[in-house]
Amino acid sequence: MSIIKKISAETTFIVRNPVLRPNLPVETCRFVGDNLPSTVHFGFYTDENLIGVVSIFEKSNTIWHQTKQIQIRGMAVLAEFQKKGIGEQLIYAVIEWAISSNIALIWFNARKNAVPFYEKLGFHSIGTAFEIEGVGTHYIMYRIL
Ligand SMILES: CC(C)(COP(=O)(O)OP(=O)(O)OC[C@H]1O[C@@H](n2cnc3c(N)ncnc32)[C@H](O)[C@@H]1OP(=O)(O)O)[C@@H](O)C(=O)NCCC(=O)NCCS
Repeated sequence: MSIIKKISAETTFIVRNPVLRPNLPVETCRFVGDNLPSTVHFGFYTDENLIGVVSIFEKSNTIWHQTKQIQIRGMAVLAEFQKKGIGEQLIYAVIEWAISSNIALIWFNARKNAVPFYEKLGFHSIGTAFEIEGVGTHYIMYRIL
């Protein structure tokens, strides 16, 4: 049985570490603002095993005028479970949460290789590619709700 539920920041490290910070110490998985009361973390569980995570930060980007914006960070699915629709379900959970919270816009920095995944889910990129040191090439992506 599969379920998406809210989890703690520390619990996300179980997936963030191998997928987003492989071979790096677990402390590198902590993001600024992870434990703010406004931050939400979702986990996708199959048979009580955590296999996918995504986090929502109350953070605006000055590119847009909308006052109610959120930033997605730490989107990750364990390698052996990728391309099975789990990432898609986590993004749907974020969109559902955002709509029910009256959020006007979702944005994030997308790794270049994940851009087609987000485009399939109705997100668009804006601007030119940029580098995040130690992680790689990124694009800013967004979706207006
Ligand atoms: C990117 C990621 C989160 C996607 O999650 P996922 O569970 O593998 O994706 P899904 O199976 O839900 O994919 C949904 C659709 O997007 C497609 N897709 C997924 N990843 C893709 C990719 N990298 N390139 C092209 N298409 C992709 C799937 O084939 C699927 O298409 P379909 O509906 O036509 O079958 C996951 O692969 C991952 O954790 N990757 C490594 C870390 C990473 O890059 N995170 C994003 C940081 S911004």
